[in-house]
Order: sequence, then structure tokens, then C-alpha cells
Amino acid sequence: MGGAHDAGGDRAAGCAEGPVSVAPAEIAHAAALLRAGALVVVPTETVYGLAADAANPAAVAALYALKERPRFNPLIAHFADAEEVERALVLPTGARRLAQRFWPGPLTLVAPHRPGAGVCALARAGLDTLAARVSPHPVLQAVLRHFGGPVAAPSANPSGRLSPTSAAHVRAGFGARTPFLLDAGPCALGLESTVIGFDGETPVLLRAGALSRDVIEAEVGRLRTPQGGAVQSPGQLGSHYAPRARLRLQAEAATPGELLLGFGPVAGEVSLSPAGDLAEAAAKLFELLHQLDARAPTCIAVAPIPNHGLGEAINDRLARAAAERC
Ligand code: TXA
Ligand code: MG
Repeated sequence: MGGAHDAGGDRAAGCAEGPVSVAPAEIAHAAALLRAGALVVVPTETVYGLAADAANPAAVAALYALKERPRFNPLIAHFADAEEVERALVLPTGARRLAQRFWPGPLTLVAPHRPGAGVCALARAGLDTLAARVSPHPVLQAVLRHFGGPVAAPSANPSGRLSPTSAAHVRAGFGARTPFLLDAGPCALGLESTVIGFDGETPVLLRAGALSRDVIEAEVGRLRTPQGGAVQSPGQLGSHYAPRARLRLQAEAATPGELLLGFGPVAGEVSLSPAGDLAEAAAKLFELLHQLDARAPTCIAVAPIPNHGLGEAINDRLARAAAERC
């Protein structure tokens, strides 16, 4: 992974379209803002994040306020590398194996926070566990190295709304209150990270995401799905990821007043993937929902998406979006 100065000039890896460059001076400015307790919007390979100094409770409070996020919903802390995570978290064996295999990448691990390790209690919503992730995005990597510590960074959208996969989405969500933003173009994966917790040594799928269940299970065996057990993800309790329009799932055709989001054989107004490719569909999901929503239909109808591989996370987001309004 490159140092701070690699972020400028070259096409930023982790972005679907280039070239979009972020100047070294912008990286330095972002790090200075974080040090001063201000918020910064950062690109990641999944979605854009709203970052604050994870050790600064006032900065983290401002983050919750801007997102209007309930304070019982803890944030993900982003670290520069797995060694830094190990200094802050007590990782079970399975977590260490996943970290080795998939970091940097779209995987978030939840594990006990070492007392005094520096992520403030507010960022953890008072829990004694912490969600940590290492993103490969060169711009975020450069910011973290300049800043010198972890940042708390949930998705950069008002709480409960669609996650942003471009700078335009972030600005549409926060308007004039948008903090300093590092624009590295559209996010390559377009779907949030997969969140894995542990009940002792048993891995638990807390949120389906851009790393599919099958590749994780190939490393650590069967993932349990939380059902009132010890490990829970507070962010999964409410409905999330909602467009303004109502959503109708498993649709083969549009009815009057509806816009149809296609997939595979269902062509639709626009298609997540005419070829039926789930990675393409994941990358386009939020962008196309944002686009259709901007046309203010009464309802967005969505073609059936198979539930294997990345389809699990896509269907999870669609189900939550549909639950919000119907
Ligand atoms: O791809 C991503 O994960 C993006 C980018 C910006 O990194 N971030 C993101 O963060 O989606 P956020 O805050 O929107 O989602 C974090 C999820 C929530 O569902 C939250 O409840 C869960 O992780 N989480 C955080 N800390 C947790 C903890 N200690 N225990 C269980 N779940 C936790
Ligand atoms: Mg979010």
C-alpha cells in the first residue's frame, strides 16, 4: 500500500472509474482537520465514510449529530493495518485468520476492545467491543498514515438513508452541512463491508456485505446468524438503507407509477446487471436506487435477485429499504 504521496496523481485503486486524483495537500488538510476535531468525508472501496478522530469524544459526538444517528448504534473504527487493530482489540483465533486473509478489504471484525486502547466509549456506543476494519483505499490509507491513529467512520449518509457511493450522493444527503470531502470517484464495490462478530470462537454474521458468506466460511467454517444470542449488531435492529420511494421486491414488470430496477432477464428502466452478474449489481445498487429515487416515483419495483454470493447482501439491503416505507 502506498504512502501519503501516492494518493495524488495516479488513478486511485478502489474506484470504479478514473482518473480521479486527490492532491497530497488535500490529504494533509484532511489529517489536520481530524486532529482539530473536525469531520472529513473519506472514500473507501465500499462506500464513502464520515470520519472523526476515534479517540476524541467531542468529534465523535459531532459525527453522531450530523448523521442523526442513534447513540446506541456503534461506529466502525478504521485502522491503517492489522497490527494496529491487534493493539486495540483482542482478536479470537478465527478473527485473526480472517484478518490475515481478507485485510485490507471489505471485512469488519467485532471483538473486545483492550481497555485504554484509545477508541472512545462514545464511538463504541458504550460497548466493550469494537468494530474494526482495514480498507485498501489509497486515499484513506494516506489519511490514516498522516493522521497517525484510527478514525471512526460510518457510511457518510443521514442515518437510515441510502449509503453513498459517490461524492454527489454525500452532498445530496448532507447539503450545505457536508464536511470537507475527499473525492476519489465512485466506490469500486458499492456495498458496505461484511460485519463478523464472535461468540467465543464461533463466528457470527452480523451484517451481510461486500465479502460474501461462502468465501468467509471457506476460512472459518459455518457462520452463525444472530438470533437473540450474545452477539448482536445494534445497527441491524432498525430499518436502514431506505430511498424516499416505496420499494416493491421480486417484481417482473412495472405497474403504472412504478420505475422498475432490472436484473438479468428483467430489463427494467435501468438494470443492476443485464448479464446477471452479482458483483456488478452490488457495485451499482445504491447508485441506481439514488438515481431512480431522484425521479420521485411512487414506487421502485425491483427484479428478483438470486440469494447466493453477493446476492445475500444485496437482498438484505433491499429488504431493509422495503421495510422502511411499506
Ligand atoms: O463498508 C463499510 O462498512 C462502511 C465504510 C464507510 O467503511 N461503513 C459502515 O459503517 O457501513 P456503519 O456505521 O454504517 O455500519 C456499522 C455496522 C452497524 O450495523 C453497527 O451496528 C455495527 O457495524 N457495529 C459497530 N460496532 C459494533 C459492535 N461493537 N458490535 C456489533 N455491531 C457493531
Ligand atoms: Mg451505514
